[in-house]
Amino acid sequence: MKKMMILVATLFATALMANDGAALYKKCAVCHGAMGEKKALGKSEVIAGWDAQKIEQSLKGYQDGSYGGALKGTMKAQVKGLNEEQIKTLSAYIDSLM
Ligand code: HEC
Repeated sequence: MKKMMILVATLFATALMANDGAALYKKCAVCHGAMGEKKALGKSEVIAGWDAQKIEQSLKGYQDGSYGGALKGTMKAQVKGLNEEQIKTLSAYIDSLM
């Protein structure tokens, strides 16, 4: 029984880490603002109000180098470790902010 509880708790925690947009967005908020309302490092566009698809495309573009401006290296480092599902979750979360 105890083992079962630990297993369930672990699965739940893992699911949260992988799928919770708010948790994924935490490190982004430092530059983009809690609501996506800031120009990151004074350079990015304000991403609040972007729809999920546009965000997803730009994040994938930063990953493969096909998108971005002068500071795209900064964003490449941010999105490097994200998988497809995490990008979708993040994009939907940012979309939902405004
Ligand atoms: C160290 C500061 C910093 C962090 C942390 C950061 N970003 Fe950015 N972000 C930037 C900068 C600077 C740009 C503009 C880069 C460029 O020149 O294309 C940008 C651009 C973007 C854009 C496209 C906006 C545009 O200007 O075209 C999106 C979407 C975005 N970031 C999402 C995220 C997400 C999601 C995270 C978290 C995984 C994140 N950022 C973390 C600094 C940051």
